[in-house]
Amino acid sequence: MPAKTEDLASTLETLRGDYRTLVERLEANEREFQRLGRAVFRVEEEERRRLARELHDGLGQNLTALKHRLSLLASQLGDTRPDLQPEIDASLALCTQGLADTRELSRLLRPQVLDDLGLEAALDWLARTLGNPAGLAIQISAHPLPSLEPDLQTLVFRLAQEALANVLRHAGASQAIVSVRVRAGLLRLTVWDDGPGFDVAAALEKSRRGDSTGLGGMKDRVALYGGRLLLESGKDGTRLEAVVPIPGEAGILAP
Ligand SMILES: Nc1ncnc2c1ncn2[C@@H]1O[C@H](COP(=O)(O)OP(=O)(O)OP(=O)(O)O)[C@@H](O)[C@H]1O
Ligand SMILES: [Mg+2]
Repeated sequence: MPAKTEDLASTLETLRGDYRTLVERLEANEREFQRLGRAVFRVEEEERRRLARELHDGLGQNLTALKHRLSLLASQLGDTRPDLQPEIDASLALCTQGLADTRELSRLLRPQVLDDLGLEAALDWLARTLGNPAGLAIQISAHPLPSLEPDLQTLVFRLAQEALANVLRHAGASQAIVSVRVRAGLLRLTVWDDGPGFDVAAALEKSRRGDSTGLGGMKDRVALYGGRLLLESGKDGTRLEAVVPIPGEAGILAP
């Protein structure tokens, strides 16, 4: 090989090596960024768990005790002060409402059922809690799932929670279906609603501008797990799909 060609070949080889090193470094940085991002969410979930427990065991227990004392007071007064009865009844009703609100807030912060019984049970609970009061029929199709690591269960639960909150707030739908499937090393969550649809590009733009946090937050959270979020909307409804590779399995996302 002539000297000039040899020089060129060796320069090219050096450049290729530098490029490989750069790509490896970028990949390592991205992995580190994802690891840190997941850790932030783990801390946030832990804090929500603590707050949920405190609400339930602290404020919740105090309200229960207050309700009990009021009932006791009412029965001690008996028929001696009928004029106080309406006030006592109103106070008892306030306690009951306060207790119900505290329990609901505690569960929405971090439902105990997710830690105790797992994702399927937590999704069933979410569907009942969000769907029933709003008259929205939410169907959950998540059986049977292999055992998934807690972080992934939390991820799916939070995505379903935000997607269903969007259905309730914006879709004008009468039914929704949440499906979770695991196949070929990929976990796939789909949330479909039968609303009239919306302008996805405009909504994503709104989220990019920082005018909303739901869709952008879901996208970011999925990306931290190396996954992807897709949104399709039209006259047949809206379909949100999150696909995430299961760690340690060979699931590959299509480009
Ligand atoms: N299932 C849906 N059906 C109809 N419109 C939707 C649906 N999901 C999202 N949207 C539209 O996309 C917009 C952005 O959603 P996003 O969740 O980011 O924000 P948001 O729900 O308005 O506020 P938040 O930050 O509290 O979630 C919504 O304002 C709504 O117009
Ligand atoms: Mg939202």
